[in-house]
Amino acid sequence: MKATALAHPNIALVKYWGKRDDALILPHQSSLSLTLSPLSVTTTVEFGVGNDAVELNGHTARGSERERVLRLLESVRASAKKELGPAKVVSRGDFPMAAGLASSAAGFAALAVAGRAAAGLLADPRAASILSRLGSGSACRSVQGGFCEWQRGERADGEDSFAVQRFDAAHWPDVRMVVAILDRGEKEVKSRDGMKHTVDTSPYYPAWVQDAEKEIPHAREHISRRDLQALGELCERNAWRMHATSMAANPPLCYLSSGTLALIQHLREQRKKGMPVWFTLDAGPNPVLLTDAAHEVAAEALARACGALDVVRCVPGGDAELKAEHLF
Ligand code: DP6
Repeated sequence: MKATALAHPNIALVKYWGKRDDALILPHQSSLSLTLSPLSVTTTVEFGVGNDAVELNGHTARGSERERVLRLLESVRASAKKELGPAKVVSRGDFPMAAGLASSAAGFAALAVAGRAAAGLLADPRAASILSRLGSGSACRSVQGGFCEWQRGERADGEDSFAVQRFDAAHWPDVRMVVAILDRGEKEVKSRDGMKHTVDTSPYYPAWVQDAEKEIPHAREHISRRDLQALGELCERNAWRMHATSMAANPPLCYLSSGTLALIQHLREQRKKGMPVWFTLDAGPNPVLLTDAAHEVAAEALARACGALDVVRCVPGGDAELKAEHLF
């Protein structure tokens, strides 16, 4: 009745931006990401104790944070088809303070894997992906390592909307993602609200959906050939298009800061000089640079020269996994 799991975050190369079902967290389009090591979140779940107590990074979770965790556990209880009782959850991330990198994807993936195991359910990446999706959409891509594709699915119940691993972490050990933390502040508009506002008000949204879906097989192809330049160009244009559709919302939504733009400008200049480095950008001002092992130190230097307060160099990460040691 007690289990612990560790999961890594992921960064999307083809972004997820917009839901067709807000309750079940079903996306309008497919997305594709790389799971990242060494950052991780570890979560212990025990059923039959406490009264649904949830502790995240040393704080008691409240409000929507707590509700999202309990909702996921409710779905575990439904799958287990037996009386599990209340649960105690403790979760801890090793992300640098306010890394500017969301830990929720890794957190919900770890919760799903630990929750299923604690309930006595068999290890099943597909079921764990569907389960973690209920916590946060992008979490479904953190259940497995390497390059994972969240297939949007067609069904109204979401049973065909989960992530599959396309290439494991060993496929491209040389690829690197370098997170440049330009701003440690909380973002003004959370991804969840920003994407909803974009779906509801951006006239460019249908074009975004069509284009992102079309890019998925291209991304897969570039990854299969380990073609960094082609993948870099694709991930940059996909990030620009996600932000363009948000900027076209009403009122407009802009996640870029002047620092973000300055870094992007500098990165282009370095690229002209022959450095293989591209960027992607989630719903915030902190770019993530895509490069290879030979250039990760130079990519970090580039980020610091542009005012990065912190830089996290990441390599391809593995699957979420069960751990013998518990957090309580
Ligand atoms: C820009 O997965 O955090 O990072 O499903 O509402 O919890 P919810 O949103 P979330 O959104 C991630 C958006 C993104 C792009 C991506 O990771 O694909």
